[in-house]
Amino acid sequence: MSLQKILNIFRRPAIELTPLDAYALWADNYPPEAHNSLMKIEERAMIDLLPELKNKIVLDLACGSGRYILKAKEQGASEVYGLDFSLPMLSRARDVSNQLALGNMTALPFESDSIDVVICGLSIGHVRDLMPIYREISRVLSPNGVMVCSDIHPFGKLAGWKRQFTASNGLEYSVEHHFHLYKDHHIACTSNQMVIEDVREPVIDGKHQWEGVPAILAIRARKTLN
Ligand SMILES: C[S@@+](CC[C@H](N)C(=O)[O-])C[C@H]1O[C@@H](n2cnc3c(N)ncnc32)[C@H](O)[C@@H]1O
Repeated sequence: MSLQKILNIFRRPAIELTPLDAYALWADNYPPEAHNSLMKIEERAMIDLLPELKNKIVLDLACGSGRYILKAKEQGASEVYGLDFSLPMLSRARDVSNQLALGNMTALPFESDSIDVVICGLSIGHVRDLMPIYREISRVLSPNGVMVCSDIHPFGKLAGWKRQFTASNGLEYSVEHHFHLYKDHHIACTSNQMVIEDVREPVIDGKHQWEGVPAILAIRARKTLN
């Protein structure tokens, strides 16, 4: 799907669903790969920010159908776990992994200090408050562990973007989303023993109403040693 179409879709009114209800309907059309232009922009930024994954223990947080599980495996991670709270999305991820957990980003079923790298793609905006998520990410990360996370850029609030999709029933829906400013990430990181190391704000290119506007905010943060 072209970026033009995605952003036009963003602008049409649709029934807004909670993330759980939305992904139950979206799962059928959600393959474990970047399947639209926005995801392609996001994925380039995330790959750019990822640390070395070889022999690392990786958690794909809110993994959906397992896009970053696949990337972590390709890059030689020794163990890759996926977690999501949507059973239909996790069912899709079964095609790429058998190390999956049904759970909420705000209460992770993993031991403290047990994960080297947490990857969280395009999911954090579904939660209103970043603090409990960052608290859990920091808890499960080993000291010096790294988190790489992406979200729709907060510019989207000004532009009125919505996260819309067409379900297999042919109807269009939008999914609840909360825009988070860079400073929200900064505060949530520093309050939870993490330091932001690097940031990407890839812009929309090509002839488009939003040409040159940042579409994605992607962050790499590291858990400090004490
Ligand atoms: C846009 S999809 C992204 C999936 C995958 N990370 C990717 O980038 O392809 C968002 C995912 O976040 C999950 N999600 C949303 N809120 C969640 C929460 N509080 N806990 C766990 N998963 C959540 C949804 O079920 C969905 O699979």
